[in-house]
Amino acid sequence: MDGKKIKLLTNRFLVVLFVALVLVQIYHPAKNNNPLVTNDDITKLYSTPDTISNILHKACYDCHSNNTTYPWYNNIQPIGFWLNDHIEEGKHHVNFSEFGKYTAQRQARKLKKCAGEVEEGEMPMDSYLWIHKNAGLTAREKEIFLLWAKDLSQKISTTSGEKS
Ligand code: HEC
Repeated sequence: MDGKKIKLLTNRFLVVLFVALVLVQIYHPAKNNNPLVTNDDITKLYSTPDTISNILHKACYDCHSNNTTYPWYNNIQPIGFWLNDHIEEGKHHVNFSEFGKYTAQRQARKLKKCAGEVEEGEMPMDSYLWIHKNAGLTAREKEIFLLWAKDLSQKISTTSGEKS
């Protein structure tokens, strides 16, 4: 292929790419922004001191609740799709807004997992922390969260008479 042909193909490719990027802006996944806090919300169900409630809201609720606070770049596709994916998947695993709908056994298991994920530094997700600098947990916050989650998990499984 001579240089002219390559240039022509590259130009065509760039035009197609540009059109595709423009077209994809038309589609927006439905937003996850229902601000209603029902009695199924974990903060209504169980004793959650302010520190815990703050940690949950700043570091977990954007992906594990029915109410996400969206960044402006959610309006740019395909970034919006990518964020939506995290939210859908996160909620599928644990939804703190609907925690009361879980069986006691599931609640206990999920809380134990929360402690595990935070202890290992897996949650909140790294990619989330790149932008949400204030969502990172200090060593002290982690400690408080672990104690709370493990303790509550234990309490729930003891009261329900099931092992988590
Ligand atoms: C940016 C979105 C995001 C944030 C913020 C986030 N998570 Fe997640 N979380 C996910 C996704 C996506 C998954 C599923 C994939 C995976 O495990 O990596 C997940 C999985 C989990 C799981 C595993 C559940 C299971 O049953 O295996 C737990 C527990 C969890 N998150 C707890 C938390 C806690 C606690 C916080 C806050 C300290 C938090 N997450 C913050 C997106 C997020």
